[in-house]
Amino acid sequence: MPHGPAEVGVGPWPGPWPADARYDPELLAGGDRRNVVDRYRYWTVEAIVADLDTRRHDFHVAIENWQHDFNIGTIVRSANAFLAAEVHIVGNRRWNRRGAMVTDRYQHVRHHATAADLADYLHHHLSGPVRLLGIDNLPGSEHLETMELPRKVCFLFGQEGPGLSDGARAACDGTFSIAQFGSTRSINASAAAAIAMHTWVRAYADLGGDAWRG
Ligand SMILES: C[S@@+](CC[C@H](N)C(=O)[O-])C[C@H]1O[C@@H](n2cnc3c(N)ncnc32)[C@H](O)[C@@H]1O
Repeated sequence: MPHGPAEVGVGPWPGPWPADARYDPELLAGGDRRNVVDRYRYWTVEAIVADLDTRRHDFHVAIENWQHDFNIGTIVRSANAFLAAEVHIVGNRRWNRRGAMVTDRYQHVRHHATAADLADYLHHHLSGPVRLLGIDNLPGSEHLETMELPRKVCFLFGQEGPGLSDGARAACDGTFSIAQFGSTRSINASAAAAIAMHTWVRAYADLGGDAWRG
């Protein structure tokens, strides 16, 4: 850009500082240039996470991580935007955080060695079972568009190239595809994740008080 990047966020807090533990003295002094919505300006990360925790949605998001897929970061970012309960990484513990744009700091990101471990966690270790749905356009997948989506659900995505692994398919309570009409075999995993999450939002989210348009 000829005039340099536009400044994001707010400068130092003008006037006397608020006496509220949620505010971060460093941000009050220096300004808050983070990618957060205005209601969280100057708040500590811990205060923001605590507030999000009071209103997280009932859906989870999971992705297989065998090849350090670059989509994981962008899926985490969408999971934050749509306020997923948790994000699950299946396979390698290390994942490519680049596309997350720091949004992972505001999410609960949990690692599982295998999809079977993920299924066990979702079925037996939360308040009420969460169904694990594989999202991939595999032979036998049903339409995501016409299914009755469970409220407590986890969407599991595969990687670029291989798609959902055999182990992941076996662990799922069913597989569902997003309808396509063109010539490409598939859409990008991160795009698929955003569509699935928004399907949940359309079915269950409260579009009143806490929803915002940006
Ligand atoms: C690029 S696709 C990989 C493979 C794909 N199954 C194929 O045959 O080419 C990567 C991931 O994106 C998601 N995905 C892509 N297109 C999809 C679709 N139409 N329906 C559901 N999931 C899709 C799935 O999670 C898939 O594992």
